Amino acid sequence: MSVVGVLTAGGDCPGLNAVIRGLVLRALEEYDAEVVGILNGWEGLMEGDVRLLDRRDVDGILAKGGTILGTSRKDPYVHGDGYSSVARTLKRNDIDSLVVIGGDGTLRTALRLDEDGARVIGVPKTIDNDINGTDFTFGFDTAVQIVTDAIDRLTTTAEAHNRVILVEVMGRTKGWIATYGGLAGGAQAILIPEIPYDIDEVAALIRRRHRRGKNYSVVVIAEGIEPPEKVELEKDAFGFDRLGGVAYQLAPVIEDLTGYETRVTVLGHLQRGGTPTAFDRVLATRLGAHAADLAAEGRHGTMVAMRRAQIVAVPLAEGCAEIRGVDPELYDVAQTFFG
Ligand code: F6P
Repeated sequence: MSVVGVLTAGGDCPGLNAVIRGLVLRALEEYDAEVVGILNGWEGLMEGDVRLLDRRDVDGILAKGGTILGTSRKDPYVHGDGYSSVARTLKRNDIDSLVVIGGDGTLRTALRLDEDGARVIGVPKTIDNDINGTDFTFGFDTAVQIVTDAIDRLTTTAEAHNRVILVEVMGRTKGWIATYGGLAGGAQAILIPEIPYDIDEVAALIRRRHRRGKNYSVVVIAEGIEPPEKVELEKDAFGFDRLGGVAYQLAPVIEDLTGYETRVTVLGHLQRGGTPTAFDRVLATRLGAHAADLAAEGRHGTMVAMRRAQIVAVPLAEGCAEIRGVDPELYDVAQTFFG
């Protein structure tokens, strides 16, 4: 009987449990395989913290946010002894295939482990939708829906007070959530890390709009845009800046330049919590099931991906090749509705 290991690493994302469920049920039903859940991401893999997953373990988890396996930001090559302790856990549990559900950093580690001898299949995960090689990542649709609902609500309160509201959303280096959320919510401007902005132009656009008789403006800001002034930020486990709050720097500048009271809402982890949308549940389930297929076929060093509505396997290296930015054509359409 073949054994498939599975772990979730990095930041969580709605749909992780749907992937786990898809993988477990497909592996058990279709291939009579065994699935071993590795707890708390790479940490559990280094420390041998595992448990067998059966049908009962995945009962009722499809719609549940978070991850039943837990996650961490520990990395074997940064916080451990590289491949050695990982290899020990894989060997001790007879794991033939290791399914790694994670974002770009996790997938890069997964690729390195695969090259070192672990037989890895990647499942791309992030609300940021910025992984190369796949049209969409699960969790993104849920995040966009949350942003859209927030903009709808913020618009009516902004209008009651003739205010400008800055809505800050996640997006470390790429502005997918900001662009989709802003488009769906009818935002008056969208600032994303990929495209430099001119704050005077943003202010001029708001002034023009209010002169035309409109009495609210909503500006969507991705957390990773260039701040007006560099400040020292806290670091995460990998030494990356802990983002969040750039809108607070921009608000007084916009208020000064426009003369309109400018308030800030930072959506933060609200965008990552709770139940996934139907789209994300279906996508995550299909990715999990396809990962079980690839494990059974021995197609390691690959990543499951969505391409033109089909689930396919692409080289894991492709998923790690670059961080995928917003399609300029999409941003161009969004700009049509600015102001
Ligand atoms: O990678 C997804 C993401 O949501 C980023 O957009 C954000 O900067 C980061 O996670 C924050 O994660 P945490 O606060 O859990 O470290």
